[in-house]
Amino acid sequence: MKLLVTGGAGFIGSNFILYWMKQYPNDEIVNLDCLTYAGNLENLKSVENNPKYKFIKGNIVNPSEVDAAMQGVDIIVHFAAESHVDRSILGPQPFTLTNVLGTQVLLDSAVKNKVRRFHHISTDEVFGSLTLNDKSKFNERTPYNPRSPYSASKAGSDHLVRAYSETYELPITITNCSNNFGPYQFPEKFIALAITNILEDKKVPVYGDGLYVRDWLYVEDHCRAIDMVLKKGKVGETYCVGGVTEDISNLDVIKKILKILEKNEDMIEFVKDRPGHDRRYAVDWSKIEKELGWKPLHSFDEWLKKTVEWYKNNEEWWKRLKTKKYQEYYKEQYGDLD
Ligand code: NAD
Ligand code: DAU
Repeated sequence: MKLLVTGGAGFIGSNFILYWMKQYPNDEIVNLDCLTYAGNLENLKSVENNPKYKFIKGNIVNPSEVDAAMQGVDIIVHFAAESHVDRSILGPQPFTLTNVLGTQVLLDSAVKNKVRRFHHISTDEVFGSLTLNDKSKFNERTPYNPRSPYSASKAGSDHLVRAYSETYELPITITNCSNNFGPYQFPEKFIALAITNILEDKKVPVYGDGLYVRDWLYVEDHCRAIDMVLKKGKVGETYCVGGVTEDISNLDVIKKILKILEKNEDMIEFVKDRPGHDRRYAVDWSKIEKELGWKPLHSFDEWLKKTVEWYKNNEEWWKRLKTKKYQEYYKEQYGDLD
C-alpha cells in the first residue's frame, strides 16, 4: 500500500509517519510538505534513508506538484495546514490559501487519480466554543460555528471534503480531534511553548484569566485513531477524537508543568487575551469507541511528564527553532514579555 501524507514534516504528520512505518514496515510513504516555519525534516531523521519513505518538497496549492506526488497513491492522509490560531489572527490569508484552496487542489487530484481513500485531519475548533461548568461536549452532530480565521478555514476544508464525497463519490473519512501534545511540537503551541520557556528561565504567557479549558490528546493516541479509521472506518463518515482530561484549565496545565520542572509559580505571566478566545473544548469520542474500538490510552499526567522529559532531552531540537524569525513573531504576539 502507498500512502501520501501531506504536511508530514509538521508535528502530528511526522509523529504519524514514524508511527505508521513502525506498524506497517512494508507500506510506502510519500511525504509532501512545502516546509513552512512549522515543517522540520529533523523529526524524520530516523527514517530518511528508508527505501519505503520518500520526501517531496511541494506545495498543496500547486496542482502540478500535487499531481506528481499522487502517482500510484492508494490513500491520502491530509495534515498539511497553517495550524496556529494566533498567527491566523495576525494574518489570515495563508490560512485560507493552504487550508481551503490547498485542500481543494488535493481533492481534485484525488478524484482524477481515483485514490481509494482521502482522509482529512480536522479539528474540534470548527464547532466553536462551549461554556465553563457545563457537561456538554462536541460530537459528530454538533453544528459548525468556527470563531477564528484558522477554524473558519478548517471548517471550509471539511465542507469541501464532504462535498467531494457527495458530488464526485470520492471515498472520504474525516477526524475532528482536540488539542494534541507530545514530542516534535513547534514551540508556539501552549504546552511546547510553556515547557521550552521554563527550560530557558523565561516567563510563561497565560492569556486572560487562564481559566480556558482544552481537551488534551497525546499525539500517539491520535495516530492510532487515524490508523483505525483508515482500517475499519466507514467511508463518508466523520469521527471525533479526544483525550482523557476532565476540564483542566490552562492555568492548571502550567502549574503541573512547573511542578514537574520544580519551578516556582511566579514564572506565570498573565497577558492580554486572544481575541474571540474559545472558552472550553471537550470532545465526546463515544462513536469511534463504539464503532471502531478506539479509546485514548495515554493519561494526561503521565504523558505530560514524559513530554516534559522529551523537551529536556532534546534541547538542540527546539533551540534551533527559536530563530530570529521566531523571535520576531514572539515580539509581535507577546510584546516585550521577557
Ligand atoms: P504543524 O503546523 O505542526 O504542521 C503543518 C505542516 O504542514 C508543516 O510541516 C508545514 O510545512 C506543512 N504545510 C503547511 N502549508 C503547506 C502547504 N501549502 N503545502 C504543503 N505543506 C504545507 O501542524 P500540526 O499541529 O501537526 O497539525 C496537523 C493537522 O492537524 C492540521 O491540519 C491541523 O489543522 C490539524 N489539527 C491539529 C491539532 C493540534 O493540536 N496540533 C489538533 C486538531 C487538528
Ligand atoms: O483544538 C484543536 C486545536 O488545538 C488545533 O486545531 C490547532 O491547530 C491547535 O493549535 C490547537 O489550538 P488552540 O488555540 O487550542 O491551541 P494553543 O496551543 O494555541 O492554545 C491552547 C490554549 O492555551 C488556548 O486556550 C490558548 C492558551 N494559550 C496559548 C498560547 C500560545 C495561552 O494562554 N498562552 C499562549 O501563549
